[in-house]
Amino acid sequence: MIYLDNAATSYPKPPEVLRAMTGVMEKFGANPGRGGHRLALQAGRVVERCREAAAELLGVRSPERVIFTRCCTESLNLAICGMLRPGDEVVCSHGEHNAVMRVLARLVSRDGVSVRVLQPGADGLLQPETLRAALTPRTRLAILCHASNVTGVVQPVAALGAVCRAAGVPLLVDAAQTAGTLDVTLDALNADMIAMPGHKGLLGPHGTGLLALREGVDPEPLLVGGTGSMSESVLQPSLLPDRYESGTLNLPGIAGLLAGLIFVRRFRREIAAQEAALNERLRERLAEAPGVRVLGDAAAPRVAVTSVVPVRGDSGDLADALDRSGVAVRAGLHCAPAIHAWLGTLESGAVRFSPGAFTTGREVDDACALVQRLTQ
Ligand code: ALA
Repeated sequence: MIYLDNAATSYPKPPEVLRAMTGVMEKFGANPGRGGHRLALQAGRVVERCREAAAELLGVRSPERVIFTRCCTESLNLAICGMLRPGDEVVCSHGEHNAVMRVLARLVSRDGVSVRVLQPGADGLLQPETLRAALTPRTRLAILCHASNVTGVVQPVAALGAVCRAAGVPLLVDAAQTAGTLDVTLDALNADMIAMPGHKGLLGPHGTGLLALREGVDPEPLLVGGTGSMSESVLQPSLLPDRYESGTLNLPGIAGLLAGLIFVRRFRREIAAQEAALNERLRERLAEAPGVRVLGDAAAPRVAVTSVVPVRGDSGDLADALDRSGVAVRAGLHCAPAIHAWLGTLESGAVRFSPGAFTTGREVDDACALVQRLTQ
């Protein structure tokens, strides 16, 4: 199978990730942070090493301000629900995933929150002036998708973040498609919170996510309960990371994520360069196929995501045909209807190709040749 669905989750994972997961479960699969015996302490050390590795990658000076979640969606829920109050205003981009849009829709109907969706220029890029004009004294949060999971276009988040900073509006960045390949640090992005999955560019396993919090940014927790600390009190501890990490942590997932982070720390530049080259090749070859139309401005900065719309027929049918021929891609709306509305592809959907760290040029060429053949 040629796997070109790394925007959904990266696959395969480095062998170290698998070994780390089975290793902790074989050797000390105890509950981290619960109990003082040596197995629990060993498990706890894995969690803290992973937190430190993530903090280093995300430019977070105090590792306890990196929070483990079970996915990027949970990180986004925590950040959004924890920051907004009834009647607040929020601005977000046209590129947001339903992990943001559905959370906001619920807060709109339940708490009277109001949302302004920013519209980009023809190249798909948001202009700082557009954001500046949308901010009001009641804006409590700005949310920006770093790179679209449909077009791959990377927004100028640092410049947009500078606008938020000048206005005193906290910025939440959804780095689902960029963490692990681009520079995703709080300072580089001028961000206050960054949400990301552990299982995409960070090469960790399913069921892992992270939220980085800048000093002084303290959303309300999404979940409260046992933390293994201050058990005498019915109140949630204010201490980080305990405040946000109720319940038993995903030890095998975090062990795997640690191995993924170590791999990414070592090879990030090479992975980013290779993915960029493969994606260019994909775009060029797919642009030569008369049966499909490639989405997104060719000159815009992008990560390794390329979507096409079949000129005739249905995107789901093309993805099914590719699957039958041994190529895994994702068709439909990719949980991101707002950007499909902007692209004019809400009806047709699109077929998305996303190479990853272990994709080869040969695989890209074979997949493109198949698209040529299937859409003749
Ligand atoms: N959000 C992931 C995707 O775009 C799952 O496929």
